[in-house]
Amino acid sequence: MKKVLIVEASARAQGLVEGRSGSLSRFLSDRFSSRWRHLNNEDIFIYRDVGAMPPQFMSHKWIAAAFTSEESRSAEQRALLCLSDQLIAEVAQADLILIATPMYNYGMPASLKAWFDQVIRVNKTFSFDLARGDFPLQPLLSGKTLVLLTSSGEFGFEPGGLRESMNHLGPHVRTLSHYLGVEEFHEIGIEYQEFGDDRHRASIDLARQAVDELVEQLSRGPVHLHADVFFTPGEASAALAGKP
Ligand SMILES: Cc1cc2nc3c(=O)[nH]c(=O)nc-3n(C[C@H](O)[C@H](O)[C@H](O)COP(=O)(O)O)c2cc1C
Repeated sequence: MKKVLIVEASARAQGLVEGRSGSLSRFLSDRFSSRWRHLNNEDIFIYRDVGAMPPQFMSHKWIAAAFTSEESRSAEQRALLCLSDQLIAEVAQADLILIATPMYNYGMPASLKAWFDQVIRVNKTFSFDLARGDFPLQPLLSGKTLVLLTSSGEFGFEPGGLRESMNHLGPHVRTLSHYLGVEEFHEIGIEYQEFGDDRHRASIDLARQAVDELVEQLSRGPVHLHADVFFTPGEASAALAGKP
């Protein structure tokens, strides 16, 4: 039995809202979890909707509390770290972390960044030791798989793509995932949302197909470590253009 943590970050709900179609990243997340449930019906899901309920931003007092040793914290400091403790506990028990997020202003939504800021915490998810030289941070968790499901209005954010240098979403999440104990990372995305054309419709189909294949692959047995990105948004464009 595995535990799956689902973090959704779109400010949009799923389905139609006032005649406009809803969140595509939530659509992919929903697809993933329903396929996963179908193949792994004993697994446990934990949902964290940071899009609907964004975690608090860092404050001077929060940082002071995080850097005060556990024994010396005041009741106020313990209360300040309560949400962080809860979010970290959710990450710590997860074997698989699914993050479904839009691209906003070429990066992640502020709500998702607030979640990472609450979760990546000294002596909880990483240790800090200057004896390690130029890389003093080390994750305290290990063995997790992260699936990143994205949606963007534009396209070409993949390595070598038209907008590679503007992509501060996938690479950022991938960097941060190290401090959640992630050792296997997969990314699938829908693109062209703002164009609303055939390329967008094809991108949805390809992403849905990639989600189904990934669920099957991950359900087959022990996950293999240090896997490369499975399917990036740009690969959908390449597939459409008939490129390898
Ligand atoms: C505030 C905001 C900022 C956005 N910024 C970008 C962007 O920088 N690049 C891009 O390709 N699309 C951008 N988009 C488009 C979204 O990525 C796209 O609508 C996506 O489908 C949203 O995810 P969702 O469908 O899960 O809500 C932006 C949309 C919003 C609302």
